[in-house]
Amino acid sequence: MKKASIFYFSGTGNTWWVSETFVRIFNEKGITASAYSVEKINGSRAGRIISESDLVGFGFPTHGSDLPFIMKEFFQELPPVKNKRTFIFCTQWMWSGDGARVAEEFLDEKQFNIFWAEHFFMPSNVCVSVTRFLPYTNDRMKISKTLAKTEKRIRGFIHKIMNERPFRRGFNRISEASGAFQRVPFRRFFERLRDDIFYEKSLCIRCRKCARLCPSGNLIFEGKELKTKGICILCLRCYSFCPVSAITYMNKPHNLKRGEPYKGPVKEFNPELLLADDSD
Ligand SMILES: Cc1cc2nc3c(=O)[nH]c(=O)nc-3n(C[C@H](O)[C@H](O)[C@H](O)COP(=O)(O)O)c2cc1C
Repeated sequence: MKKASIFYFSGTGNTWWVSETFVRIFNEKGITASAYSVEKINGSRAGRIISESDLVGFGFPTHGSDLPFIMKEFFQELPPVKNKRTFIFCTQWMWSGDGARVAEEFLDEKQFNIFWAEHFFMPSNVCVSVTRFLPYTNDRMKISKTLAKTEKRIRGFIHKIMNERPFRRGFNRISEASGAFQRVPFRRFFERLRDDIFYEKSLCIRCRKCARLCPSGNLIFEGKELKTKGICILCLRCYSFCPVSAITYMNKPHNLKRGEPYKGPVKEFNPELLLADDSD
């Protein structure tokens, strides 16, 4: 195996970190690896990269045991391939049941050979006021412990890949049924949840960062007013990275008594890294 390519979506940096950790470990082992944010790349360019790769990976955060909407769109755009050795992973705070397997529903018709699948535990990015009963943290000490455990798990997973030992977490009836328990209502109510992000006008400094960072083009400024198109994909990037915490969810501003919104897994994480720029 000489070349590995990973395609991922990351709302707030966790899946970016896992993808970059894969790249670092593959490189250590003499495999040329690259990771691509799906916000920077279209299906046909990804198809060309895939055709030149010996191994392909797809990664995403679990959203209610489902794929983020943008990942579904990316999978639909991909050209069919023949017999490509493939791994899938999801990042999750606590539990997804079959969070990685669900990608198979979208990839199967493209004929990827999914030999490996894994779930990686990362900090929760769910920090909106309406979920105040769910804990999250920006404590760097706590987060670095989680990252160390996850890196160990990534190394174990890569070991299986390099030894050609198929391993597919969550590919069984029980995991599928437990994932569906969460996914079925999530899919059912998804459209109703797509217009819950807005902003607190009195706090907003009109830096337009939220609109620039939004992966779905849901947020746009008309003059000094922020407008929404009702096509939010619930990634929470705008909510987490607004410099003055002016973004609201279900009309509730962030409760700063809980600390800042989730700021990503490492302090170096900058969400601008995930966006297309002129050089891409
Ligand atoms: C809308 C939404 C739904 C989520 N659902 C789950 C879930 O079902 N189970 C879980 O363990 N984590 C869940 N999470 C947490 C994220 O999957 C987790 O923090 C992930 O690592 C975030 O990755 P990112 O920073 O790359 O976006 C959810 C997060 C969001 C925003």
